[in-house]
Amino acid sequence: MTSAILVINGPNLNLLGTREPEIYGTTTLDDLKAVTTAQAKRHGLAADFRQSNDEGELVTWIQDARTSAAGIIINAAAYTHTSVAILDALQACGKPVIEVHLSNIFKRESFRHHSYVSPAATGVICGLGAQGYVLAVDAMADLLTKVKT
Ligand code: DQA
Repeated sequence: MTSAILVINGPNLNLLGTREPEIYGTTTLDDLKAVTTAQAKRHGLAADFRQSNDEGELVTWIQDARTSAAGIIINAAAYTHTSVAILDALQACGKPVIEVHLSNIFKRESFRHHSYVSPAATGVICGLGAQGYVLAVDAMADLLTKVKT
């Protein structure tokens, strides 16, 4: 049984640091990777941190997680609000899922208020920036302890 958490980031998150800093701040994707992997290590877990702009690639990663990951932390970015394919993959995966967003999607445009990821998630964290990823790792570590016992 693997103890790796798959951390999936969707489209345009590769642009963090320069993308709409008034919304997303100046934290880069590499910064997020560093805080996420460091927090996972504190829990004795590995974090497999990835980003793709391609919906099909995200779906394939989620499918692969059925055999290669203990749980999934996902910021599906814009696909959060559009992708039934990602929801189906998460529901087929059977692993614990935590949804995370840097911004508070409920303070923003109404089209961001609906998430296709949430029905597959145990919990949702949004609006806390990079800290949300750290909290998601804490929550996942706790969930995995409960899965084992
Ligand atoms: C986001 C929020 C989404 O609405 C948006 O499309 C993103 C980023 C966030 O982390 O705040 O790309 O998921």
